Amino acid sequence: MTFSVFPKFLATFTLLGYLTACGGGGGATANTQTPAPPTPLSVAQALFAEKALSASGQLACASCHTDDNAHGDATGTTLPIGGVNMGQQGFRSSPSLLYLASNTAFRFVNGLPFGGFTWDGRANSRAEQAAGPLLDSTEMANADVAAVARKVRGLTYFNDFVSQFNVPAAATDQQIFEKLKTALQTYQELDTDYLLFNSKFDREADGTYTFTPSERSGRDLFNNPDKGNCASCHTSRNGPNGERPVFTNFSYAALGLPRNMQIQKNAADATFFDKGLCGPKRTDLSTRTELCGQFKVPTLRNIELTSPYFHNASIFNLTQAVSFYATRDIDPRLWYPSVNDKFNDLPLAERGNVIRTAPFGQQPGDRPVLSAQDVDDLVSFLKTLTDDRTAPQGSPTVVAR
Ligand code: HEC
Ligand code: HEC
Repeated sequence: MTFSVFPKFLATFTLLGYLTACGGGGGATANTQTPAPPTPLSVAQALFAEKALSASGQLACASCHTDDNAHGDATGTTLPIGGVNMGQQGFRSSPSLLYLASNTAFRFVNGLPFGGFTWDGRANSRAEQAAGPLLDSTEMANADVAAVARKVRGLTYFNDFVSQFNVPAAATDQQIFEKLKTALQTYQELDTDYLLFNSKFDREADGTYTFTPSERSGRDLFNNPDKGNCASCHTSRNGPNGERPVFTNFSYAALGLPRNMQIQKNAADATFFDKGLCGPKRTDLSTRTELCGQFKVPTLRNIELTSPYFHNASIFNLTQAVSFYATRDIDPRLWYPSVNDKFNDLPLAERGNVIRTAPFGQQPGDRPVLSAQDVDDLVSFLKTLTDDRTAPQGSPTVVAR
């Protein structure tokens, strides 16, 4: 089988280039040849794009979280590939890393799960999360912390890392590893792409863009509790102080997605199930069977760019992803091998956990709650959530009018 292994992340050094250009001041002088002095951002960005941090020497954070795809999988990716020899397929799609700044550590609120990083919330911060791929045998596949530290010490810009991240003299392997994790979180905090807030949606909120009729209709369907009801999980309202919405409330739900047989583990083993909160990646909630099948609600900002969709990459096209909400219960044969095998990516005993409230909950043959035109309008609206990476960063709060 062939998979797309080498995503593009050509824009990775855009910012370095930009800094250099600014330093040039206005004219091609010999000065423009001088490299810009290192900053925490320039060093952290280089580390994020550093393939030498993987056992294969071929995989960086930026390989799976590509610049051009809102730091999600590269265009055409089926599922991420990694491992010592780049021969291991993961069983989850790489999420966009944008708009996570307002997320929190994992916790239960009134008994309901919220927050945390990854699809099952098992990391409590972006720094903690970074340890996962560095050591995961199917991703960057380092044997241990010492192996990572050795690779960091060998980087040509190790001294810049030391100076920009206050790495102690004679740092231990563990100290280097911790500083690396900090740097990778710092990158996600400092690169303005991570919170651009300059999409058509944001400009509409500021009064500098007018929705087309289709986009407006999609927005209304998205917010209407009797129609799409999307906003009940993918928050679309401003916060109390005008904070722009990030289209997730960081809660969890079981949508009952179709099983993806392109996942090698699924094809090889009919008894293997990725059950999100209750395992197998996460191990502390394995006895909480009522949580099986639940995954974190992702942001929908830049969703146009982040195919494939859902934790199991079961749907490749955005119209199809929205159609799933419209027709899962009305016409299950579109999604599952048979009407009697609905929610086939969960064991029989746990299929009852799947959510049936709006926009779901019809019987086969019922009148659709969302028509084909409604689906198209929802997609038009979702496309207004794409940021403009060539334009300046917008304010994180809505501009007062
Ligand atoms: C082989 C592909 C791959 C590589 C390499 C990779 N990631 Fe990921 N990343 C993923 C996948 C898949 C997930 C979802 C994991 C899960 O749910 O178990 C993820 C999740 C994340 C998340 C959580 C996002 C959220 O919505 O909670 C962050 C943050 C992240 N990665 C950062 C990084 C950093 C930093 C690196 C480099 C150290 C990195 N990733 C390397 C594939 C990758
Ligand atoms: C009950 C909460 C809930 C509602 C209501 C809801 N979603 Fe979602 N949405 C989720 C969860 C949870 C996921 C991730 C599920 C998974 O991958 O297992 C998701 C994922 C998605 C994705 C794929 C995101 C990605 O990065 O792969 C799209 C697109 C999406 N939703 C659009 C919508 C639209 C449009 C509506 C309204 C018609 C809607 N959602 C209603 C909870 C919800």
